[in-house]
Amino acid sequence: MTKCRGIPPVEYGTVRPAWSVVQPGTPDRYGSGMFAVTAARVSPDDPLAALELGDRPEPALPDGWAAVTVKAASLNHHDVWTLRGVGISVDRLPIILGCDAAGLDEDGNEVVVHAVVGEGGSGGDETLDPRRSLLSERYNGTFAEKVAVPRRNLVPKPAGLSFEEAACLPTAYLTAYRMLFVKSGLQPGATVLVQGAGGGVATALILLGRAAGYRVWATSRSEAKLARALELGADQVFGAGGRLPERVDAVMETVGQATWAHSLRALRPGGRIVICGATSGTAPPAELNRVFFLQLSVVGSTMGSRDELARLTRFCEQTGVRPLIDRTLPLALAAEGVGAMISGDLFGKVVFTV
Ligand SMILES: NC(=O)c1ccc[n+]([C@@H]2O[C@H](COP(=O)([O-])OP(=O)(O)OC[C@H]3O[C@@H](n4cnc5c(N)ncnc54)[C@H](OP(=O)(O)O)[C@@H]3O)[C@@H](O)[C@H]2O)c1
Repeated sequence: MTKCRGIPPVEYGTVRPAWSVVQPGTPDRYGSGMFAVTAARVSPDDPLAALELGDRPEPALPDGWAAVTVKAASLNHHDVWTLRGVGISVDRLPIILGCDAAGLDEDGNEVVVHAVVGEGGSGGDETLDPRRSLLSERYNGTFAEKVAVPRRNLVPKPAGLSFEEAACLPTAYLTAYRMLFVKSGLQPGATVLVQGAGGGVATALILLGRAAGYRVWATSRSEAKLARALELGADQVFGAGGRLPERVDAVMETVGQATWAHSLRALRPGGRIVICGATSGTAPPAELNRVFFLQLSVVGSTMGSRDELARLTRFCEQTGVRPLIDRTLPLALAAEGVGAMISGDLFGKVVFTV
């Protein structure tokens, strides 16, 4: 299930020592195994206190599953929500974090891992399976030397993308792809506003939208991030809540409460908000009078299917788009990347190499 603020709080329970760094390959209380980054408990106000680094057992392989040797994995806000206890129950802990990875399958093929694990009730779109989960929700995630996934979740990695770039695709870039190309209904040449320019999904929206021929406008709370959004391909940028020169065809929302009123006012009559997340809160005034009078649409979007991930890899090959990486760190320094995401000190993706 996908996370956003406002999901009922979980109980806090498991008492374990604060996170500690163990060198890769060093056995600890789990016995010899593989190095991994784990949510050991939940800590709503201090997510780093829930992070633990150390050895974990190598994954077991049910029938039809494959082990991937992880070369690179990328961080998502989902991992911070897990550490805060949003969208996870404590009986699932400890669990290895991480939705996204690129690596090698058992035959040495370069692969990207699709993060949505369906349970067979999807009718082709795993995101509509009511029992689906993302890696790190029910099954151990990708912040490890190895991850087990259903064989169907492996997508060939394009040769032109590095492992680090490919590791950005399965969550942030796939979510942006579906928002823009499946849910927005926009034709090339339309104007789209991206709220909160600095995030992993937001930078993906700017890059993919620009490559597809949309006129992309973006907002941010930070002057420095606005300048970087222009460099990335945004046509115009605006401070948070800033007045736009004209109304837009669609708004891409990941911020939620803090930007919602601005998003509603930014739309032309008949325009559409596509929303995949609500980092700043889930309960802004709905302003239903504005929604019906201007005939606005509000469309939810979550991740994407395995086939959409395959098309996204081809989109990157065909257009030359490469994911924007803010920083690459060894997995043993995962706490540094998580800390940067918590403080909002990021422009693009954090990638861990394994
Ligand atoms: N439904 C799904 O499948 C799906 C998939 C991916 C992500 N998500 C959700 O989408 C959200 C973004 O994910 P991410 O991985 O891109 O996170 P991220 O890299 O941490 O991005 C955070 C973004 O939020 C903006 N922001 C945060 N607090 C804000 C506030 N109070 N006011 C204005 N802007 C604020 C920041 O914009 P500036 O600093 O530029 O202002 C930044 O762009 C998360 O809530 C995540 O859970 C959902």
